[in-house]
Amino acid sequence: MADTFDLVIRGATVVNHDGEGIRDIAIAGERIAAIGNLGPAKAVAEIDAAGLHILPGVIDTQVHFREPGLDHKEDLETGSRAAVAGGVTAVFEMPNTKPLTTTADTLADKVRRARNRMFCDFGFFVGGTRENVSEIPMLEKLEASAGIKVFMGSSTGDLLVDEEAALDRIIAKISRRASFHAEDEARLKARMPLRRKGDPSSHPEWRDPEAALIATKRLVGLAEKHGKRVHVLHISTADEMDYLRDHKSYATVEVTPHHLTLEAPDCYERLGAYAQMNPPVRDARHRTAIWAALQSGVVDVLGSDHAPHTREEKDHAYPDTHSGMTGVQTLVPIMLDHVNAGRLSLQRFVDLTSHGPQRLFGIRNKGRIAVGYDADLTIVDMKRTATISNAWIESRCAWTPYDGVKVTGWPVGTFVRGRKVMWEGEIAGSARGEPVGFLEGFVR
Ligand code: DOR
Repeated sequence: MADTFDLVIRGATVVNHDGEGIRDIAIAGERIAAIGNLGPAKAVAEIDAAGLHILPGVIDTQVHFREPGLDHKEDLETGSRAAVAGGVTAVFEMPNTKPLTTTADTLADKVRRARNRMFCDFGFFVGGTRENVSEIPMLEKLEASAGIKVFMGSSTGDLLVDEEAALDRIIAKISRRASFHAEDEARLKARMPLRRKGDPSSHPEWRDPEAALIATKRLVGLAEKHGKRVHVLHISTADEMDYLRDHKSYATVEVTPHHLTLEAPDCYERLGAYAQMNPPVRDARHRTAIWAALQSGVVDVLGSDHAPHTREEKDHAYPDTHSGMTGVQTLVPIMLDHVNAGRLSLQRFVDLTSHGPQRLFGIRNKGRIAVGYDADLTIVDMKRTATISNAWIESRCAWTPYDGVKVTGWPVGTFVRGRKVMWEGEIAGSARGEPVGFLEGFVR
């Protein structure tokens, strides 16, 4: 044990692989150095965290930060400010930027832009396409590569792999777990006339449960054929959950806070196109089934799918409105409110946001509060009641679908590799985010 630690955080309830209990945490440099009753330990700095809970840093494995090319909506800096303001310590960012992240150069460009501008640590997904199939083994190994992401149905941007033959070639080539947006493009095209002008409540009728189920079954079938690991993003239907519960050998499952929290028709009546997402928020039957899958363990991770668009882009008449909503900053408070309401335990929340990402993506040194691991910590006050507001949102587009929503459970501190980056709502220090390291990829 070091004689003098850099920081000791005392007296909080620590939630980790060891359960839940009052413990001190000592940090030396970027790593956790000791956990337990550290009464006599000396430290350069101390924090009294009695009454608070310390969770392993929350890892949001699905965000869209829009840089390069779409920075009128968000950029890597504003997106990462939103992340740490909401208690998130690392993000995996999506490739549907301009240009698309589909080559070694475009990935290296994102890493260069992220260094000294992002407050949290980062990985970047690389888009899998017909054109880059043969380069997938190389692309999976690059610095910060979180693996391959494929859009099977079109959403924001031009990344689309809608032919089964191309999907087959991509899945044959992957060696890490790859992530998929599963909606069937042919069915989406055929059902376009079901969109009603000015009525976003027709969005889930157009992009119906069957479109999601067809694509998810096709994807899992190919994963089984090739013996490859696939991650199905933002599952939105009861039908997919029924199917996936029996196909967990190759497929892992993500759900989002908005599919757990919002429901049709209410969300479209209250929020209009601000509730418009792909895949869509659906009715109570689906939301209930998603909760049941989360509670029974079918669900592996929570991702926010933070997908900012400006108010101007949301204020057109549907269907000329963009799909997506902010979420990285509200993931922790919205889900802690669900914890306080008894819908999941705090341990299960940690399983979904730290242990789950670590297990699925083979993240090095993160996802646990354990000696030798990165000192990434999400410190929360489970008793604090606060109201989420647009004014609190750090994202460039400055709105949240939860404006005015009162929650109990709030992020009060964010530490990334031992450095305080947020405390009581203030973003602290300079941006020192680094690429996340992976067992089967880049070693940091
Ligand atoms: O609603 C969505 N918006 N779903 C996606 O898959 C993409 C995202 C975006 O980038 O705007």
